Amino acid sequence: MAPSSSRQDRSLLRFLTCGSVDDGKSTLIGRLLHETAAIFDDQMSALRRDSRVHGTVGEEIDLALLMDGLEAERQQGITIDVAYRFFATPRRSFIVADTPGHEQYTRNMATGASTADLAVLLVDARKGLLVQTRRHSYICSLLGIRNVILAVNKMDLVDFDQDRFTAIVDDYTRFAEALSFTTISAIPLSARHGDNVASRSLNMAWYSGPTLLASLEDAAAGVDAATAPFRLPVQWVNRPDTDFRGFSGTVASGRLAVGDTVAIAPSGTTATVARIVTADADLSDAAAGDAVTVVLDREIDIARGDMLVSPGAPAQTADQFAAHVVWMGENPMLPGRSYLMRAGMQWVPVSITAIKHRVDVNTLSRLAATQLELNDVGMCNLASARPIAFDPYAENRTTGSFIIVDRFSFATVGAGMIDFPLRRATNIRREALAVDKAAHAAALGQKPLILWLTGLSGSGKSTIAKALERRLYSAGQHTYMLDGDNLRHGLNRDLGFTEQDRVENIRRVGEVARLFVDAGLIVICSFISPFKAERNMIRELVDNDEFIEIFVDTPLDVCIARDPKGLYAKALAGQLVNFTGIDSPYEKPDRPDIRLDTTAASVDELVERILDWLADRQRTTGAHAGDAPPGSSERTDQPDT
Ligand code: ADX
Repeated sequence: MAPSSSRQDRSLLRFLTCGSVDDGKSTLIGRLLHETAAIFDDQMSALRRDSRVHGTVGEEIDLALLMDGLEAERQQGITIDVAYRFFATPRRSFIVADTPGHEQYTRNMATGASTADLAVLLVDARKGLLVQTRRHSYICSLLGIRNVILAVNKMDLVDFDQDRFTAIVDDYTRFAEALSFTTISAIPLSARHGDNVASRSLNMAWYSGPTLLASLEDAAAGVDAATAPFRLPVQWVNRPDTDFRGFSGTVASGRLAVGDTVAIAPSGTTATVARIVTADADLSDAAAGDAVTVVLDREIDIARGDMLVSPGAPAQTADQFAAHVVWMGENPMLPGRSYLMRAGMQWVPVSITAIKHRVDVNTLSRLAATQLELNDVGMCNLASARPIAFDPYAENRTTGSFIIVDRFSFATVGAGMIDFPLRRATNIRREALAVDKAAHAAALGQKPLILWLTGLSGSGKSTIAKALERRLYSAGQHTYMLDGDNLRHGLNRDLGFTEQDRVENIRRVGEVARLFVDAGLIVICSFISPFKAERNMIRELVDNDEFIEIFVDTPLDVCIARDPKGLYAKALAGQLVNFTGIDSPYEKPDRPDIRLDTTAASVDELVERILDWLADRQRTTGAHAGDAPPGSSERTDQPDT
């Protein structure tokens, strides 16, 4: 019997179980709970009832049902979310994250692993290593887990064969050589029957190592967040009245005491801690995991998203960095596209500027990649719109990680771990213009604009653009036209028509258009620009009222009938791939500033409509051709014409 516990002995171990679906994770956790007597009598009788209805093991109790709480999951027979369970032995307490093994649920696995000290990786003895086994191992390694227990399960189904066990262990050891694990212990077991889970198996006398539970009791807990430098991401600024101003959040790592000096990241200002306030009472000090409100000795400017840090070991600040990204979006991650990044309490627009490589989870080799698909892991360079405060993930799992969110659906589409900042960003300053946009605009006597025509190939964009430019030119306006076909002969010669090339095409055009706007010009752009995300990105590049989206809304069948360049014929005959409208998507604008129906009006009438719209806006907002740019005035949302 283990000696009776003191509080100290019962240190906490957080671990997760992972591996392929059907490898027996839920059954194993159920078994651990059962063996450690975490199952109370009433739960047992409910379980007995359920086992008869849903279970897959006849009259026996199906231990997996303990884990698969949700009815929907039971019906589907898979686990679909991270479930945390608590159990304890006289020697130790445990929190276990049961993560799904189903291919598309890598996200939940990453969630479970980011706080775990150890991973129990399950392998079905009959099947050996599967893609999921390798993928999950790699992600565990990336996420900083250093101790792994390789649980070779279902040994009863291979007649407790030692050779089978040894072969799997050899296989895994070879695979894991390239990963950053410090210990890998392998245990042959049967979760269903309890062999080597809490008590030694009589069926495997050849195995002399510890049981799973004994291994868990002895395992080293991971790096303690309490020993890392102090970090507190500010969740909100607490200012109930003019007398009180505190900064609330959860201590991510390290310790803080009244009287300590703290630095504010990214600004770098310092102050002394006057009080540490909690709902119950003031504290003299606080440690990782504590939710507190910090009051400083003087007024300094701190906003939500800033971080209080130890001045002796401050966080890093950068707007470009290298990171490993696990992609979880149904749509591929495209370099150049703008996403939102949440790092701690900071939210900032971010884009991937380069994919250095993608990792093949089977062989761990590095592959070239132009995009990341669902479940891919890639080493990327990222650029955020503003500098963020962070630590490399290897030093701090909380302040070194981030998530990537889609700007339209707000779904989490990626998770990342920062490897290091790219210094380049801080070495390049932005040089102020000697003659700025306002001066150029005043000299030209006009309001600079981007008139952005989007629509299918053959919809009439270029024709309308040219007629529009002639009209503006004869009215004395200073214009320039950027056209898809033309730019693809020069600046964008290297780009084709894959999704990632179209994203890059529009990104470059947007940057060029922005420069022309700085020069005071009215820029007319005609590009298919099939994706909302990139059209949106260009709107954000310039001031609110400087981007006007004009949707040239010609139905596909009309474009096909017109086919001015004969390209639709080729695409339909299969001689041209990735053709917009045929085998490449076009996302219609939801709320264009102007919508043009080319089937019902002449080119001149359509141009007139654009000019009328501009004149109308000028009347309502007061901005007119001779005005200097109004800077931050609101965009006027017009109904579709
Ligand atoms: S975009 O999608 O990246 O915005 P862009 O406007 O620059 O495209 O170029 C579109 C022009 O390229 C079309 O008008 C057409 O003449 C030509 N083109 C050649 N191949 C394709 C293709 N696969 N899809 C669309 N347009 C193509």
